[in-house]
Amino acid sequence: MTYDAIILGAGGAGLMAAATAGQAGARVLVIDHVEKAGKKILISGGGRCNFTNMGTEAGCFLSENPHFAKSALSRYTQWDFLALVEAHGIAWHEKTLGQLFCDGSARQIVAMLLDECAKGRVEVRLSTPVGRIEHADGRFRVGGATAPALVVATGGPSIPKMGATGLAYDIAAQFGVKVVTPRPALVPFTLGARDQGFKDISGVSCPAVARVGDAIFAEAALFTHKGLSGPSVLQVSSYWRPGQAVSLNVLEDAAAKLRDARSRMPRAHLKAALAEHLPTRLADALATRIGLATELGNASDRVLDEVAQTLTDLTFQPTGTEGYAKAEVTAGGIDTAALSSRSMEAREVPGLFFIGEAVDVTGWLGGYNFQWAWSSGVAAGQEI
Ligand code: FDA
Repeated sequence: MTYDAIILGAGGAGLMAAATAGQAGARVLVIDHVEKAGKKILISGGGRCNFTNMGTEAGCFLSENPHFAKSALSRYTQWDFLALVEAHGIAWHEKTLGQLFCDGSARQIVAMLLDECAKGRVEVRLSTPVGRIEHADGRFRVGGATAPALVVATGGPSIPKMGATGLAYDIAAQFGVKVVTPRPALVPFTLGARDQGFKDISGVSCPAVARVGDAIFAEAALFTHKGLSGPSVLQVSSYWRPGQAVSLNVLEDAAAKLRDARSRMPRAHLKAALAEHLPTRLADALATRIGLATELGNASDRVLDEVAQTLTDLTFQPTGTEGYAKAEVTAGGIDTAALSSRSMEAREVPGLFFIGEAVDVTGWLGGYNFQWAWSSGVAAGQEI
């Protein structure tokens, strides 16, 4: 069978590209090896899909080229996607920090995308392995199908049990397209013996400003039996490289709060002062780590300032991350230097496109990654 485009991957990016191209009149085939389209959409946002972020701009993405995403993001914006959601009568709400979720279910987003594909007469073939890709005389052949355009929308290897693979990187290698070394991102950290006291308070969370190098995010942090998680920690994990420390500010204005506690309850110990502001088990773990032996009334300003410094810059030395099994996304991927930022087409291989998470463009937590899937999908879909 001949098509105008073959799209590999029926995730957010692939379906968006397919619908866009199909509705413009192209004959499009989508191939995916799993049995259901949009599996990651279905599990996203706790089943309600955080489908975009109203604050989306290129600065919310990591990439070797921080300018690359600008073109696609500005030509298909968060407002464009929201208009599509509203046109399908899907009720939504803003949860926090510009994050938009379905009121009902993520299934509505998948149904919407499949409906848009149907409007464009897109053929979606599920439970179909991709196999060998051949390329001759300007046409790509996958299985029995051929087309002058091949769009690789197979994402990254995060969450293999959902069907994620590194196929995009293999295809890049086949066609001589460079790849920025992929790594798990938006991923919990594992801690070692040095931080054991915090592994013992698994399940405790608190507001915290997390920092890795220059990357700083203020949201909640969560202590787990393996280490650290929670939104602020996941955000900085995308910037983390092995060997770097992770710092948490768990108590804003710690110095003033400690002095206030000292004047109100001089016979109390540090744990009691901390428990006024933090979960008891965390207060306990912090007091143990800090090891202030005296009652608060006996602590000098200098000592309290040192304690405050520890609380606002509590450092952890991760032994690693929980890896692709738990990473919400994969950072790195197809090198943007090899792609046109307008169309996502490989500069050296006419007709070959890479979109979505497969590309070295990784969003913050909060709907940015789906917006990239939609925007890059539309960019390629308009070109084929
Ligand atoms: P995606 O991975 O969605 O799709 C790729 C498709 O290719 C899949 O259908 C897969 O089966 C197929 N495929 C892979 N290898 C193949 C092969 N070898 N042969 C054939 N087919 C193959 N983002 C966000 O913005 N808001 C959110 O709420 C969330 N929540 C969230 C929760 C969880 C648990 C995870 C794991 C991730 C998120 N994300 C998110 C991230 C978001 O899901 C992700 O960035 C997008 O789904 C990426 O879309 P793509 O279409 O690029 O890849």
